[in-house]
Formats: sequence, C-alpha cells, structure tokens
Amino acid sequence: MNILLIGSGGREHALAQAIAASPLCDRVFIAPGNPGTAQHGVNVPLDTADHAAVAELCRRESIEFVVVGPEAPLVAGIVDDLEAAGIKCFGPSKAAAQLEGSKSFTKEFAQEFGIPTAAFRRFTDPDAAKRYLRETGAPIVVKADGLAAGKGVVVAQSVEEAAEAVDLMLGGGLGAAGAEIVIEECLVGEEASVFALCDGTRSVPLGTAQDHKRAYDGDRGPNTGGMGAYSPAAAVTPELQAEIEARIIQPTLDGMRARGTPFVGILYAGLMLTAEGPKLIEYNVRFGDPEAQVLLPRLRADIVAAMLAARGGVLEGVRLGWSDFPALAVVMATNGYPGPVERGSVIRGLEAAKHEHVTVFQAGTALGPAGELVAAGGRVLAVTALGPSFAEAQRRAYEAVGAIDWPGGFCRTDIGRRAVEREAAAPANPR
Ligand code: AMP
Ligand code: GLY
Repeated sequence: MNILLIGSGGREHALAQAIAASPLCDRVFIAPGNPGTAQHGVNVPLDTADHAAVAELCRRESIEFVVVGPEAPLVAGIVDDLEAAGIKCFGPSKAAAQLEGSKSFTKEFAQEFGIPTAAFRRFTDPDAAKRYLRETGAPIVVKADGLAAGKGVVVAQSVEEAAEAVDLMLGGGLGAAGAEIVIEECLVGEEASVFALCDGTRSVPLGTAQDHKRAYDGDRGPNTGGMGAYSPAAAVTPELQAEIEARIIQPTLDGMRARGTPFVGILYAGLMLTAEGPKLIEYNVRFGDPEAQVLLPRLRADIVAAMLAARGGVLEGVRLGWSDFPALAVVMATNGYPGPVERGSVIRGLEAAKHEHVTVFQAGTALGPAGELVAAGGRVLAVTALGPSFAEAQRRAYEAVGAIDWPGGFCRTDIGRRAVEREAAAPANPR
C-alpha cells in the first residue's frame, strides 16, 4: 500500500526509514518532509494544517494509510478528518489527543482514574495562583495548560521565580496556551520515558528512553526539545515496566474508553521514578523527538503491520521484537539554539559519518542552491548508533559526530553519560 507520513523532523526521518522497510509498503510520501526523509520516499510540500488538502493528496496518490508524526495535527483533529474522508489514519482522535493538548485535562483525568501523579491545582486568576504559591512554598512547578513547544513548564526553585512564571503565562506571554495554568508539586527522582502502542483497549510496549532536555553539558543551560537520547532507560527494570503498565498505561486506556474516547496511537508517558513508585509527569500522544531516533532503530518488527493492527483494534497477541543492543543519539543543533538561529550554514561529511551501526537522521536541513546540505532550523541532525554496550554505542555516535564537518553547529559531549556509568558500575547486569 501507499503510505503518507505527516511531519518534517528527525522523528519523521526515523519513521520514514522504518515505514519504507515494511514489506506492506509500496510507496511512502512525506508531507512536508526534509532531505533525510527524501532518501526513503517522496516529499510533498503541503500545508498539513489543511486537512482537506491532505485528503486530496491521498486520493490523488492512492494513499491508503496515513501516519502522523507530530502532536499539533493530532490535537487539531487530523485523524478525525481523514477517517471521516474514508482514509485510514494512525494516531489518536482529537478528543484522545487531549492527553497531550491539555495539561489540566490530563491532571483531572489522572485524578479521576487513580493514576499516580503530582498533586495539583488549576488557575486562571494570577492573584489566586500567587496566594496558593505562598501557601505551598518552593520548589514548585508552574505549567501552561496548552501546547507551548517546550516552553510551558517552569520548575521553580523559589516562590518569586514561580510567581514570575504565573505572571508571564497568565499575562499572555505564551498566547492561548497559557490562558489557564496548572501549579503542581515538585516530584523528586529519576526521569524515564515509556512508550506504548495502543489500540484503544490494550497496549504493546514500544520501549523506554531517556532524553537530555538541557542545551549544554552537565544538564546546564536552557530547556530544549531534546539534545540527545538513549534507549533502553536502564532504570526501568522489567518489574518496574510491569508496574508502569498496570498502574499507569492500562488505567489510562480503561479511563479513555470509559469516557467514550478510546486512545489509539502511541502513548508516551513521561515519568518520575519516585521513592513512592512511578508517577506520571505528562503524556505525549506520539513518538518523541529524538526518542524515535533511538527506539525505531532497535525495532525488529514491521512497524506498518503493528500500526495497522493498533488502528484496527486488533493488537491482541501482537509481540514486537527488539535488538539487544542499546541505541544512543546525539543531536547536533545550529549555534544559538534554542534561541534564534541563522539558516544556511553548510554541512559536510555525512557520507564519512555513515557506518554499519550508525545512522544520521536529519531534522532542520534543506538543500542549498547547488544541492549542498544546509542547516534550516534549530535541531538539525541526530547521530544515532547501536552497540553491544552503552559505552560502545556512545563511542560510535561521537566518532560519527567527529566526521561531520559543520562549524555552524554544536552538540552536547555527554549524551548517555549516566547509562555508561551505570553499566560500568554493574557490568554483569543482563539487559
Ligand atoms: P516538557 O517536556 O517541556 O513538558 O518539560 C517537562 C519537564 O519538566 C519534565 O521533563 C521534568 O523534568 C520537569 N517537570 C515537569 N513536571 C514536574 C514535576 N511535577 N516535578 C518535577 N519536575 C517536573
Ligand atoms: N523529546 C521530547 C519530546 O519529543 O517531546
């Protein structure tokens, strides 16, 4: 069948590669895609917010199945619109995408269905919010309700810092996303991300990962979309995985079904592993970026067959195989990211970086006037390596980074450090 993938990031490059490798896939189209996705299919310049135009493309190119990469089209209801037009589409409905689209929705939902999460209150009035802050004290977390492209969460170390975040968000500093806020208890522990493929009733594990959100080494500097990731997240033991499925993932599927809005798609649970057990920080309703770049290269199964089974409500009995090797991705970003960046710096050496165990996924790239690869965004490349150990995957990834000639970009030099240290401390641990 012909398949359309929506999106243009490194996640979509990894998805395009996995989809194109499926025996079920004849042709893959990517809208709008990037020069990396063009290695696996046909990029189509299209405004994907125009759902009628997407449906028209599907009719024109005999596309039978659509896979949606990013959250914005899901929250805007692209799945509902394409399904209504008779086109199979993988991802949650607009109603189910509220699990990412609204933090207050998710908090109320977790409370109603007994899913462990930080204690919280919702506010639209800045004075009431600040009174509450003075009562509770710091550290405390202030969140904009809506999608804010990674800028909507402030983990405040003082009441003053929290009050500033309240004023910024409720003062319109983040637009409509901040018209309502959630103030919540600050959780303490190690973070981990757990991914599940869901068919509305049940789920199949899609692996675990650890992100690196801060821009600079040692987890310093501003928050970003993610500067690197590795998989699996070593802290998530098989026992903990079972507990997360039983206490968080399955109750979420049951609760969404009970509300009449079953969740179909990829559920990405951001968790804090606290002394009292795993607690939900937030949900995303799609693969992470750069998490997809470490999860998908480890998958030893047909992603298209799995997504079709989830979309059809028939995941029962589906088991996905995984590589025993861990994967690690180093993101290369344009100098200045996550602030404003210049476009157009030339990137060389991608061929030299290629290796049997290394893939360079492209995100914010474009082709220059002479067909040369240039930077066209903040996060530009995700250099992913697999290896028999985290240490080896890390060594391979940084060796490939070293082969890339791009003075206009930078990366963190410590991606995966914790996993490598953990491995060195317990080398005999079976994975
Ligand atoms: P984002 O992915 O932009 O929503 O960022 C959320 C990040 O903020 C998480 O990855 C955590 O590091 C942090 N965070 C969010 N909520 C809490 C909380 N209740 N306690 C501690 N850290 C939190
Ligand atoms: N890397 C975090 C995200 O995709 O939301």
